[in-house]
Amino acid sequence: MTTIGFIGAGHIGGQLARLAVAQGYDAVLSNSRGPESLAALIEELGPRARAATAEQAAQAGDLVVVTVPLKVYRSVPVAPLAGKVVIDTNNYYPHRDGHIPELDAESTTTAELLQAHLPSSKVVKAFNHIQAAHLTAHAQASGTPQRRALVIAGDDAAAKATVARLIDQFGFDTVDAGALREGWRIQRDTPGYGPRRTAEELRRDLAAAKRYRDL
Ligand SMILES: NC(=O)c1ccc[n+]([C@@H]2O[C@H](COP(=O)([O-])OP(=O)(O)OC[C@H]3O[C@@H](n4cnc5c(N)ncnc54)[C@H](OP(=O)(O)O)[C@@H]3O)[C@@H](O)[C@H]2O)c1
Repeated sequence: MTTIGFIGAGHIGGQLARLAVAQGYDAVLSNSRGPESLAALIEELGPRARAATAEQAAQAGDLVVVTVPLKVYRSVPVAPLAGKVVIDTNNYYPHRDGHIPELDAESTTTAELLQAHLPSSKVVKAFNHIQAAHLTAHAQASGTPQRRALVIAGDDAAAKATVARLIDQFGFDTVDAGALREGWRIQRDTPGYGPRRTAEELRRDLAAAKRYRDL
């Protein structure tokens, strides 16, 4: 894997791109306003980064990060992502995203919605519960005592292993929450959503998580 594509280059996309180029990956970034609007960020990121359309970023990435407001997830290009590992950072905020009935009913999860939209891709939920600024501020080398951990969830074991390796390179341990349907355990308002946690603490948080209907 040498190139990471980004659908969305805002707070999280920009930060993940910083970590990616620092680790020697090429980064292809896209947003809704077009490549020209990303000139300042690309200049900051340096020669390993370039701006493109969402379609081109999806095509170029060996692995692709989807990091857009959830309400636009259906605009993510489908065909160029077929067969690829796709990281989903998205969260559901009804005041921003509008109401999505199946999420309100808790009959599915955000990453399962993206997986349904990308049936031939391998979606892994990751980076959804860390503030954007902390992605660079909290990153530490592998083996650092009390290193921060981040949750992954997904239905494809090999895809999860790929993402866990990437997260380790980016500076964090991982905790596997299980299948995509378990992603609710790290959704907004759960104990693990936001604070700095070690792997052991995060495992406890996942076990203690409650559905919105039980809060
Ligand atoms: N901010 C955080 O600390 C944080 C932490 C964890 C997870 N998250 C979640 O991660 C996701 C992204 O959050 P964010 O804070 O990075 O959002 P953000 O700063 O608002 O950035 C969103 C990015 O998505 C782009 N975008 C919007 N519509 C698009 C489309 N149709 N096609 C391609 N790109 C599109 C935007 O481009 P334009 O600017 O050109 O419109 C922008 O680059 C959200 O679901 C959020 O809940 C956020």
